[in-house]
Amino acid sequence: MSHPAPHPRKIIIDTDPGQDDAVAILLALASPELDVLGITVAAGNVPLPLTQKNARVICELAGRRDMKIFAGCDAPLAQRLVTAEHVHGKTGLDGIALPDPTMPLSPGHAVDFLIDTLRREPAGSVTLCPLGPLTNIATALAKAPDIAPKIAEIVLMGGAYFEVGNITPAAEFNIYVDPEAADIVFRSGVPIVVLPLDVTHKALTSREWVERMRGLGTEAGRAVASWTDFFERYDTAKYGSLGAPLHDPCVIAYLLQPDLFTGRQIHVAIELEGRHTRGMTVADWWRVTEGAPNAFFIGGVKRDAFFDLLTERIARL
Ligand code: RIB
Ligand code: CA
Repeated sequence: MSHPAPHPRKIIIDTDPGQDDAVAILLALASPELDVLGITVAAGNVPLPLTQKNARVICELAGRRDMKIFAGCDAPLAQRLVTAEHVHGKTGLDGIALPDPTMPLSPGHAVDFLIDTLRREPAGSVTLCPLGPLTNIATALAKAPDIAPKIAEIVLMGGAYFEVGNITPAAEFNIYVDPEAADIVFRSGVPIVVLPLDVTHKALTSREWVERMRGLGTEAGRAVASWTDFFERYDTAKYGSLGAPLHDPCVIAYLLQPDLFTGRQIHVAIELEGRHTRGMTVADWWRVTEGAPNAFFIGGVKRDAFFDLLTERIARL
């Protein structure tokens, strides 16, 4: 008996491109298991005018001028925007010069696209994939609480526990930029999968892999090689590690092959008050509190299989 092809999983990617966001978006667009209903853009690595432009550059590079791309919130809920040009360069996509986009933004605000899509699609059929600060997601949940039970899962890159912070000693960038938004998301009751620095710092590129990307002889391969080369210099200077941590692609790889990852269902709280720890994900890894588990917190990845998946998919573009 023939088995019908499984329906592609419907996702919305929320992003602040960023070179690693770009690789994640290319991975998603190259994977037929995923149906990207749209891309919502947040301010983060660089301000919104640049992140929304970068999202269009990436989709055009993937030959997806049809993709719906919505600009979202341009500032966090309760504090001024902190950006990361020191990591991503002033454009947010430094490393290779790509043509300005010609595809338009979709009309309307990203938050309204999130709400309208979740209200329209069957309950439990759409997964949200935040790759940056959680401002758009939190704003949608606050504006339309009825969407929370309709979200299948939120699979996000953010936070850290054993790996501690990358923007402060205690906090990871995506959470630190908008801790109030993260608090709303982590207290929403929506099933959450967290890909923190604990796992993304194990997804380090190698020189051999970057050259394999360049050797694909495609625009996408050249861009991925150039982006990861640029992105690597920051982590090498800071951590002494060789290789760039592919933070955001871990989210998409988890959707495609969850067995590559290991983690625990635990309670994760967002620190809002700490003078030195604001934006920290307080992950109860050892279950020492009564906090009800609210997140699947990932700590391990099969690194070689992760990069094999990435190579095979990027080569399709
Ligand atoms: O801390 C890493 C995260 O911050 C990644 O999503 C990167 O793109 C930046 O947004
Ligand atoms: Ca990002």
